[in-house]
Amino acid sequence: MSIRSLSLGAVVALAALHTTAGAQTTGLDLAKAKNCMACHDVASKRVGPSYQSVAERYASDAEAADKLFASIRKGSFRKWGAIPMPAQNAVNDDEARKLAQWILTLKN
Ligand code: HEC
Repeated sequence: MSIRSLSLGAVVALAALHTTAGAQTTGLDLAKAKNCMACHDVASKRVGPSYQSVAERYASDAEAADKLFASIRKGSFRKWGAIPMPAQNAVNDDEARKLAQWILTLKN
């Protein structure tokens, strides 16, 4: 492999990093990409609670970000209703933390 094609590869990898982890990637983009929006909506209840009602319930909880992170990573059961949320294995720790923080900003 030539040096030229190696550096082209690096540029492509950097560009990919920029679009997946860059500042333009909003919480909503990430939630859509990770299929969260199949069960959740920002403002209305679907299979799971709306993200606004999650943000409201945890508004005065100092550990909210950690709790939501744990629910996203490990699953959530009986906090909102009869339907459990399975552990979200498509997200890594960083993504789960980012999603938890984003959800907490959505308070009405
Ligand atoms: C298969 C449907 C489904 C998918 C996909 C899903 N959720 Fe959920 N989610 C639920 C349900 C149902 C609940 C309520 C669980 C309960 O009652 O404890 C929930 C609850 C939650 C809560 C509240 C947890 C708590 O501790 O109060 C958060 C935050 C959340 N989901 C975030 C996400 C994120 C982020 C994703 C994507 C990575 C996601 N969910 C994907 C169904 C889903």
